[in-house]
Amino acid sequence: MTPGTPLIVTVHSWGGGVGKTTTVASLGYLMARAGLRVGLVDAGLQAPGLHLACGVPDGLLRQGVAGYLVGECGIGDILHDLGPSTGLPGGPGALFLAPGVVDMGAIARPALAGQYDTGLLHEGVRRMAGLLGLDVVVIDTHPGVNHEAVHALALADVCLVAARPDLRGMSGGPLLADMSRRLSVPRPLVLFTMVPPGTEHAALDDIARRRYECPMAGALPWAPELAAGRAAGPFAAAFPAHPLTAALDDVARLLAQPRT
Ligand SMILES: Nc1ncnc2c1ncn2[C@@H]1O[C@H](COP(=O)(O)OP(=O)(O)OP(=O)(O)O)[C@@H](O)[C@H]1O
Ligand SMILES: [Mg+2]
Repeated sequence: MTPGTPLIVTVHSWGGGVGKTTTVASLGYLMARAGLRVGLVDAGLQAPGLHLACGVPDGLLRQGVAGYLVGECGIGDILHDLGPSTGLPGGPGALFLAPGVVDMGAIARPALAGQYDTGLLHEGVRRMAGLLGLDVVVIDTHPGVNHEAVHALALADVCLVAARPDLRGMSGGPLLADMSRRLSVPRPLVLFTMVPPGTEHAALDDIARRRYECPMAGALPWAPELAAGRAAGPFAAAFPAHPLTAALDDVARLLAQPRT
């Protein structure tokens, strides 16, 4: 990481429901716990949910990224400090959220506005990083190829292509890795999610290199506690000793390292 310039990590996937949003919340928490100032951005405008994975209920949100993109509010108006709810000290170890909003009007407005300037996403991320002195910004996206996702990839230093190690992940995931390269993302990485017990990590690493043509960031195990929705807030904060948290922590460390 370069001092004064935030590392931008975009988490994207081909199929939906592979664990992007819960991963973004936990990675953000773990990087903040390691002493970084981290901002999370919900660019999954069609069906926002990052606030819930961060422990912020729908009712607390008045405005979000969609409102910012159509000029209804400034980026500074939508930021939430997650430090108090996650037990982070603040100062160097801090976590903030630019949420989406679960309100049909707010969700529909960017779509109805049609040609709204998606370059504003870049501007918003830059301003948020400046306002909060961020070291890292992690962007959550809506699955598949869509406006915001392409823009979130275009401004990323790292793209985590999240994929389940199943047929769907194997079919669309490599396309996204290729799209990241075409958008000149410096560091595309594959993150296998919901990995069934007994899966050989060496085999996944091999798939990443041969099919995705990029390195594997990690292999996150299937976690029944997460599937059951037992964490209020980032999973890693609620289950610090869980194997999924250990795997997420390895990914957080890898992201924070300079490229080798
Ligand atoms: N490793 C895991 N083990 C078990 N369940 C998981 C795991 N990761 C995520 N889940 C669960 O799977 C569901 C989908 O997760 P999540 O919302 O993070 O996926 P997503 O990729 O963001 O979905 P979408 O594409 O709809 O935005 C959630 O109920 C979540 O709790
Ligand atoms: Mg999601």
